[in-house]
Amino acid sequence: MPSGNNYIQPMQDLAREAGALLMSFFGKVSIEYKGDADLVTKADRASEKLIVERIRQQWPDHDLIGEEGSRRETGSDYRWHIDPLDGTTNFAHGYPVFCVSMALEYKGERIAGVVYDPTRDEMFQAEAGSGAFLNQQPIHVTPTARIDDSLSATGFPSRKRHQNINIYFYYQLAMTSHGVRRAGAAAIDLAYVACGRLDFFWEFQLKPWDMAAGCLLVREAGGVCTDMRGAPLDLNGPHVLADNGALHAAVVELFGEIFAGKQREPLPQ
Ligand code: IPD
Ligand code: CA
Ligand code: CA
Repeated sequence: MPSGNNYIQPMQDLAREAGALLMSFFGKVSIEYKGDADLVTKADRASEKLIVERIRQQWPDHDLIGEEGSRRETGSDYRWHIDPLDGTTNFAHGYPVFCVSMALEYKGERIAGVVYDPTRDEMFQAEAGSGAFLNQQPIHVTPTARIDDSLSATGFPSRKRHQNINIYFYYQLAMTSHGVRRAGAAAIDLAYVACGRLDFFWEFQLKPWDMAAGCLLVREAGGVCTDMRGAPLDLNGPHVLADNGALHAAVVELFGEIFAGKQREPLPQ
């Protein structure tokens, strides 16, 4: 397995460059629609164009998938997952929670990932086997062992919203913990699990570019990333759970009950 070491510095440089580009658009873009509540802006496209151009210059043989449509799929051992602006709805409304997320895979295994929040100048980075870092300082998941003592996060998709059952999960967790945040940028949520600001995160219907970098951060920070039933994570699967490890069994058990239609806390009448 090649080391992510050759890539992690250029990835950070590129994420910073894309983050600066996003900031140059922030507060100045108009909203366009990909679906009824699925937004896109000029900034998403400009950031993806920049990232893809740089990757093609430096690593012309690598495959890549960008959320805004960039594709190179030639069967290369290397593949990039690029979310040029995670948190588009926030960005489009001037709500300052968004980031750039990029991960590099070798033969299907993530070897390096970065999540950069330009509003706080926070660079989260991880290489497989080398730990996770925030602005060059090592980060670690929390030791929280009881759901009752936890702070978690989730999100709700902007596509096929009516098919999403997450409100049931949200309600149960909101009633039995310190709270559930819905900040609107999945890659930041995952980075926050990695650095201990959150104890766990779950969501339905995310795409590989939303979670490839964030899940590597969580694992390298000592946490666990699976699906919501505790099965191995598939980036193309229907849901994700990222947690600190100590809470994993309890959260999977609670989610199993909710999937089965049971409620620990009845819904208000
Ligand atoms: C979205 C954000 C949001 C999550 C949505 C994603 P985008 O990504 O990560 O937090 O709830 O499911 O689609 O569209 O802003 O890149
Ligand atoms: Ca995203
Ligand atoms: Ca995006």
